[in-house]
Amino acid sequence: MGAGKLRFSVAPAGPLRGEIHVPGDKSISHRAVMLGSLASGSSRISGFLAGEDTMATLRAMQQMGVRIDRPAETELVIHGAGHDGLHAAPGPLDVGNSGTSARLMAGLLAGQRFDSSIVGDASLMQRPMLRVVEPLRRMGADISCTAAGTLPLQIRGGAQLRGVEYAMPVASAQVKSALLLAGLCADGMTCVIEPAASRDHTERMLQSFGVDVKRDGLRVCVTRKSLRAADVRVPADISSAAFFLVAASIVPGSDLLLPRVGINPTRAAVIEILRAMGARIDVRASASASGEPMADLRVRYSPLRGIRIPPHLVPDAIDEFPAILAAAACAEGTTILTDAAELRVKESDRIAAMAAGLAALGIGTRETPDGMSVAGGNPRGGAVDSAGDHRIAMAFAVAGCRAAGDVTVHDCANVNTSFPGFAACLRAAGGTITEEWR
Ligand code: S3P
Repeated sequence: MGAGKLRFSVAPAGPLRGEIHVPGDKSISHRAVMLGSLASGSSRISGFLAGEDTMATLRAMQQMGVRIDRPAETELVIHGAGHDGLHAAPGPLDVGNSGTSARLMAGLLAGQRFDSSIVGDASLMQRPMLRVVEPLRRMGADISCTAAGTLPLQIRGGAQLRGVEYAMPVASAQVKSALLLAGLCADGMTCVIEPAASRDHTERMLQSFGVDVKRDGLRVCVTRKSLRAADVRVPADISSAAFFLVAASIVPGSDLLLPRVGINPTRAAVIEILRAMGARIDVRASASASGEPMADLRVRYSPLRGIRIPPHLVPDAIDEFPAILAAAACAEGTTILTDAAELRVKESDRIAAMAAGLAALGIGTRETPDGMSVAGGNPRGGAVDSAGDHRIAMAFAVAGCRAAGDVTVHDCANVNTSFPGFAACLRAAGGTITEEWR
């Protein structure tokens, strides 16, 4: 680390080859820390993502009195506080850039006996929180945010929550999970109905921790329950693997193996989308762990073509669009993305950030309110801005491996929120990337 901002400089690469071990799944790591902290007994977490976002969750739980040992970088032993065992933190919980921490924690804290507040970094302070605040209020929570619907969240302790039946307006695993966590402290049954299936890691992991989760299509329900400790093995993060699936697909001669990647069906649409574009990806299932299916993924170079992305696949690939749009930039023909307005409220406005960066590399794009089209071709060298967003930074680093000239990506420090060691992994595979603080 150093003063200023981190930038990546990427030169066109020869073939990318070898075995890449991407870090643990971010969504599952957050949930493991939260559920382990609420449980009675000790839970061992292996393959934990030691990224800034998940460390923010870990620190927040420690601030509320949970003892967490870390025998190795990616191993945790969480000595759960039990159902009523959390204590007020000494000050506001600062979750940095992490939307998952903020929203899930809002649900977790809504039924506690003590007051709490949640703050974050400049980007997170802009992101919409009413989507959790409103349904939690319906459950009886005493929770407030700013008039603009943003952090800080103030949660007053001692509210008696009651179960509700809530039809979510947008497919959001963070909102669903917040309500299910609140439902563990509520009278009666809490049911969430989704407009489309979002990632279901919370439901799977709650079951491992002894909760009877009732699922019927898009409706999922829980009742009040104390958790019992469980061990969790975290698979490699498919959202991080996605950058290498794209890199190998677009750089001629590439052949990469990505072992033990989580392929939960609510997360794996990136494979289906890239295959529809012509990518050559083999999925060899390995044993599932802690209720989450895993596979070894092998990806080899293959010429890509533009497609119309099937709207029903969008929620299950929502974090992968920066990578997919980088692939589209190198495909023959036009790729059309629709039904993805949620991308505008992620760590950055990902539609605007991708359109601006692709234009800087000479790729034609057209933005729409809920998506964009990309006229594929041959990206040229140039300078792009990540908008402080980890996935935009990595998407352009990958595009740089195939561009005709050098690509500079500005403002990349946030890559550490989800994928510490990304640049080293890309270098290990044969990429030419340097990191510089200035
Ligand atoms: C996440 C859910 C998704 C995703 C985010 C992680 C989660 O957000 O974009 O990176 O862990 O629950 P939404 O719930 O807002 O779709």
